[in-house]
Amino acid sequence: MDAQEPDGPLQVVTLGASRYPEVLAVLRAGFDTVREQFGITAQNNPHYPVYWTVGDVARAVARPARLLGVEVDSRVAGCAFVGPSRRREGCWELRHLAVDPEHRHRGLGRLLVTEAAAHAAADGAEALRIGIVAENRRLSDWYHGLGFVDVSCGESYPPLPFTVDHLELPLAAKVDMSI
Ligand SMILES: CC(C)(COP(=O)(O)OP(=O)(O)OC[C@H]1O[C@@H](n2cnc3c(N)ncnc32)[C@H](O)[C@@H]1OP(=O)(O)O)[C@@H](O)C(=O)NCCC(=O)NCCS
Repeated sequence: MDAQEPDGPLQVVTLGASRYPEVLAVLRAGFDTVREQFGITAQNNPHYPVYWTVGDVARAVARPARLLGVEVDSRVAGCAFVGPSRRREGCWELRHLAVDPEHRHRGLGRLLVTEAAAHAAADGAEALRIGIVAENRRLSDWYHGLGFVDVSCGESYPPLPFTVDHLELPLAAKVDMSI
C-alpha cells in the first residue's frame, strides 16, 4: 500500500474531522482542473466539490464513508471517500478522489485507489464502483490500467454538461501496481 518517496514511503491514513478544512482545500484545488476542462459551473452542477463547504465534507463522511488521505510534509495532499453502496449489496463506492495538482504524477492517486479497494475487500465486498466524467478519456484510461472495467457508459444527467461512465474493480483482482 506504499509508494516510494525520497523521504520514505507515503501512507494512506483515515482522516477525522479536524482535517476537514485541509481536505476541502484539496477537493477544491483538485476538482478545479476538471471544472475548467469540462465547463462545470455552480449553475449546472452545484454539488460539485469545487463548491463544497466543510459541512459537505462531513455529509460525505456521514453517508457513511471512510475519508482516506495521503499526507506530504504532514499536510493532506490527496483524499478519497470510500464506503458501502446504498444501492447495491456487496458493492463499495469510491467517491471524490482528488490529488492536489502540485502533488500529481507521484502515485498518490493510485495509492488511494489501492487502499480504498483494500477497505472494500476487507468488508467482503465483491466490487469497488466509481462514476466518472465519460469525456475524461485520460482518467478512464487510468482506471482501466488499474483494473477497472466499464459497467455503463455515457449516461446523461441534465443539467450536467458531461455524461457519466460507471466502472468497477472486481475485488478478486488486485490493482495492478506495476503501471
Ligand atoms: C485522477 C487523479 C486523482 C490522479 O492523481 P495522481 O496522484 O496524479 O495519480 P498517479 O500519480 O497515481 O497517476 C498519474 C496518472 O493519472 C492519470 N490521470 C488521470 N486523470 C488525469 C488528469 N486529469 N490529468 C493528468 N493525468 C491524469 C494519468 O495517466 C497520469 O499518468 P502520468 O503521471 O504518467 O501522467 C488526479 O489527476 C486528480 O485529482 N484529478 C482531478 C480530480 C478527478 O478527476 N478525480 C477522479 C474522480 S472519479
